[in-house]
This record gives sequence, C-alpha cells and structure tokens, in this order.
Amino acid sequence: MFRVVTFVVVMVLSGAVTAAPDGKALFNKHCSVCHGSEGKGGVGVPLSLPSFINSVSDEYLKKTIRVGRPGRIMPAFPKLSDAQVGAIVGHVRSWTDVPVVRFDPTPVKGDEKQGKELFLKHCAQCHGEDGKGGKGTGVSFSRKRDLPIIAPALNNPGFLASASDMMIKNTLLNGREGTPMNSFLAAGLKEKEINDVVAYVRSFEKVEVVPVDDKSNDSILVEYSGYTLEETVENLTLAIENKNFKIIRTDYFGYGFAGEAEVNKKQVVLHFCNFDFLYQALSIDPRVGMFLPCRVNVVERDGEVKIMTINPMSLSKLFNNDALNEACKEMTDLYKEILEDASL
Ligand code: HEC
Ligand code: HEC
Repeated sequence: MFRVVTFVVVMVLSGAVTAAPDGKALFNKHCSVCHGSEGKGGVGVPLSLPSFINSVSDEYLKKTIRVGRPGRIMPAFPKLSDAQVGAIVGHVRSWTDVPVVRFDPTPVKGDEKQGKELFLKHCAQCHGEDGKGGKGTGVSFSRKRDLPIIAPALNNPGFLASASDMMIKNTLLNGREGTPMNSFLAAGLKEKEINDVVAYVRSFEKVEVVPVDDKSNDSILVEYSGYTLEETVENLTLAIENKNFKIIRTDYFGYGFAGEAEVNKKQVVLHFCNFDFLYQALSIDPRVGMFLPCRVNVVERDGEVKIMTINPMSLSKLFNNDALNEACKEMTDLYKEILEDASL
C-alpha cells in the first residue's frame, strides 16, 4: 500500500516537472515563420498537404527537424528534446487524418547510370541538373514563377540522411497531389526505371555539397567609429556618394512612428540607393524589396559611436537564388567598404 502511494506521488511530481511539450506552441515558435501557422507554406514548403503527409514517415520528419537542410534555408534543430520534436511532428500530423506510413528500410536496387539519364530527362528541369534544387524555396507568393512550389534540393545531405530509398520511391510512384511533383508511374515510367532514378538520387550522397559562403553568417555588419556621431554621419554620406549611391534621406531612428520630440537623436539612419542596382536586384527577385533601399544606422551609446547595417548576403541566403546571392555578395562588399571608409 505504502509503495503504491509513493509511486503515485512520484508520478504526479515528475508529471508536473516534465509536462508534455506543446507541439502547437513549439511549431508556432520555431517553424511557422517559414511554413505558415497552419503549414500552408511560405518560405518553406507546405507541410499540411495530405499528399505530403501521406508520403513521409515520422522518422523522416524527425530527422529533417534534427538535421535540417545544410546550405538551404531549412535550419537544424539539434537542441530540441526528443519529446519536443515528437510533439512538433504530432502537431504537423494533426492537420490531416492520413494514417502514419512506415517504409521498408531495405535499399532500392537500381542502375545509377540509367537513373542519371532518366533524371536529366524527367527531373532536372525542376530539381536542377545535379539535384541541387530549384531556384528559390518554398511557395512563391511574390511573383509569378514557373512553379507554385519550388522543388527542394535532393542532393542535400540533410535530405539524404532523412529520406529512405523507399520514401523516395514512393514519392516517385505516387507524386504529391496539389504540388508540381507528379506521379511518374502515371507519367509512364516503369517501376524498374523508377528504381534506377532512386539509385541515382542516392548517389548524390557521394557528392560533396559546397555550402553558401560561410562568412556571410553575420546578419549585421558593425564597425566602430573613432569620430563623433555628427562627423561619422558626414563621413558616411561622403563614403556612400563615393560608391555611386544616392542619399535619399537622413533621419532619426523611429522617425515617422514617434513624434519629432520623442525621437532618439543619438540614432541616425541614412537611406541610400543605387537605382541601377535596385532595378537589377528587383528583377532577380522582388522580395529584395524587403531590404531596399539601403540603410545604415549610426548609433551613439555610452560615448561610443557604432555604424551598423544588415548584411545583404545573410538575407539573400533566405531565398536560395544564385543570381541574387551574387548581387548581394557585391552589395555586402560595398557595404563593408563604406563602413570602413567612414570609420577610419
Ligand atoms: C527559416 C525558414 C524555415 C524554418 C524556420 C523551418 N523550415 Fe522547414 N523548410 C524550410 C525550407 C525552405 C524547406 C525546403 C527545403 C529545400 O528547399 O531544399 C523546408 C523543408 C522542411 C521539411 C521537408 C519537406 C519535404 O517536402 O520533404 C520539413 C518536414 C520541415 N521543413 C519541417 C520544419 C519544422 C517542423 C520546422 C520547425 C521545427 C521547420 N521546418 C522550420 C524552411 C524552414
Ligand atoms: C514540375 C517540377 C518537378 C519535376 C519535373 C519533378 N519534381 Fe520532384 N518535386 C517537385 C516539387 C515542387 C516538390 C515538393 C513537393 C512538396 O512540397 O511536397 C518535389 C518533391 C520531390 C521529392 C521529395 C523531396 C522532399 O524534400 O520531400 C523527391 C524525392 C522528388 N521530388 C524527386 C523527383 C524526381 C526523382 C523527379 C524525376 C523523376 C522529379 N522529382 C520531378 C517538383 C518536380
């Protein structure tokens, strides 16, 4: 009797300490910015489509959350506990009542060489010649693209580590209704040919994937200035004009939200633009409108003057668009020169 009571007390106590994680709250915190709060997709692909849920195992979802897609936008979440990851998967599953699938872990045997030919013919136009994925990611909402959902990278180590051969095969057999990914059985490929393609996709594991410029990880560029706030603003104006940008306006941070009197005069914002660059960048991807025109902030705090700006390269990584990466790399280099010029 005594034993039973202690047991119950321990259960209650430990229950109170480790309450089951709230999958919905965790999803909203970690995933919804990209995948949408109901999983309808955004920067990330849709997760609530029955055809998707029906083609992935829990194992695949858990591994994907754990390892992410290195070099793509999908982050890795190594710090979440198993219970938290499980709760997120449970939440994703709660959007549909599709039964959970399990795939036979046996590798699919196929002819890699044949597979490559088939891949180039049937897959490369969307997934890229070497499986590196379509330009951009997720759902396109900012402009008309050839595809409403951008094809994910298949040569990605995170994808390959998460997906079993049978899962890939199943996706090829059935496609994903409601996305541009069609059934290749319906399209006329034979099962043997599908096996060949799976073998080829698996062979991407041997290819080393070069990650996007690592130094671009700092999302903010910072430089300390040896000058006063006013001098630094003057130097910056000159440095910006020297690089053929036009100063659009200079104002205080918060101007426009706060009244003139409440504005912090120790935080100056310079807005500037190079119209050629602006049009070039917008034609590559209109979402760059989010960070154009260019802005640099000059902040004085505790007698120290700091120049800060967002790193265009780090923003560009959000879109996985090679052409945009190049343009933004140029912009990051220019920003660095401007910041240096103004603070030296
Ligand atoms: C910063 C944006 C971002 C965040 C945050 C994010 N994802 Fe993703 N996710 C993506 C993108 C983009 C892809 C597509 C991968 C590609 O393009 O290669 C993706 C892919 C996935 C896939 C694979 C989908 C498929 O078709 O196989 C799953 C599953 C997934 N994410 C789940 C999650 C979960 C769960 C979270 C939160 C724990 C999360 N993601 C957080 C952007 C994000
Ligand atoms: C018309 C464009 C298009 C073609 C052609 C195409 N795919 Fe896809 N594929 C997609 C899209 C878009 C998705 C993402 C679907 C989603 O959001 O669930 C996808 C998803 C996949 C997935 C699942 C990846 C993941 O992260 O979940 C695999 C595997 C795949 N495709 C392989 C192939 C192979 C192999 C071929 C050629 C036999 C092919 N695809 C042809 C557009 C395409």
